[in-house]
Amino acid sequence: MIAVSSAAEAAPVHAVVPTVRVATPADAPFVENLQATAFGPGRFARTAFRVRERFPIDTSLSLIAEVGGVPCGSVWMTPISIGGIDGYLLGPLATHPSFRKRGAGKLLAREVTRIALERGEGSFVLLVGDQDYYCPLGWVPTTPGAIVFPGPVDPTRVLVYSDDRNIAARLSGPIKAFGAGRRS
Ligand SMILES: CC(C)(COP(=O)(O)OP(=O)(O)OC[C@H]1O[C@@H](n2cnc3c(N)ncnc32)[C@H](O)[C@@H]1OP(=O)(O)O)[C@@H](O)C(=O)NCCC(=O)NCCS
Repeated sequence: MIAVSSAAEAAPVHAVVPTVRVATPADAPFVENLQATAFGPGRFARTAFRVRERFPIDTSLSLIAEVGGVPCGSVWMTPISIGGIDGYLLGPLATHPSFRKRGAGKLLAREVTRIALERGEGSFVLLVGDQDYYCPLGWVPTTPGAIVFPGPVDPTRVLVYSDDRNIAARLSGPIKAFGAGRRS
């Protein structure tokens, strides 16, 4: 049961600013329905989905966005490595259609990236998405074709966020398991 603060109850829902929290197992049906709504049946054929089939998501980095205590968005992170550099693949990111354009999507992307990178274990957050949405948040294009996905991907949509300004030029090779570079 999600506690709704009295302030949230009192405010009209469109005026309530989204918040984020870590997902729990009880959120699984909401997330499944949300991803089905946002991406449809074709989501299982997406190349990013194939990465998540090979490497498990980090459930401690699964975040839920809420408005007035009502779940409205979700993001996942998959720990990966590329060319011996550890990082994360962000996605799927989705906001329920009834709650869009309130900042939940950008809040989820920013917060999950901040939390992941503050751990100091991975140094980048990769994603496949629209430049118009993610570049204002700090993501930059990677070298087209340099990162090898397990399926087709539009190279102009492969974007990366990092504190290391040179990372976009350095990332090259297939997507492997987190820690693969350290173990080889
Ligand atoms: C993309 C998505 C997560 C955005 O969620 P949201 O909570 O509405 O996002 P925010 O409120 O933070 O940002 C909304 C703004 O981004 C814009 N925007 C949304 N999708 C965009 C896109 N693909 N490209 C550029 N801008 C986009 C909106 O028009 C809006 O602009 P405004 O603030 O000027 O009105 C949501 O539309 C969604 O779930 N879409 C379907 C799934 C999807 O495409 N996920 C992203 C995969 S990479």
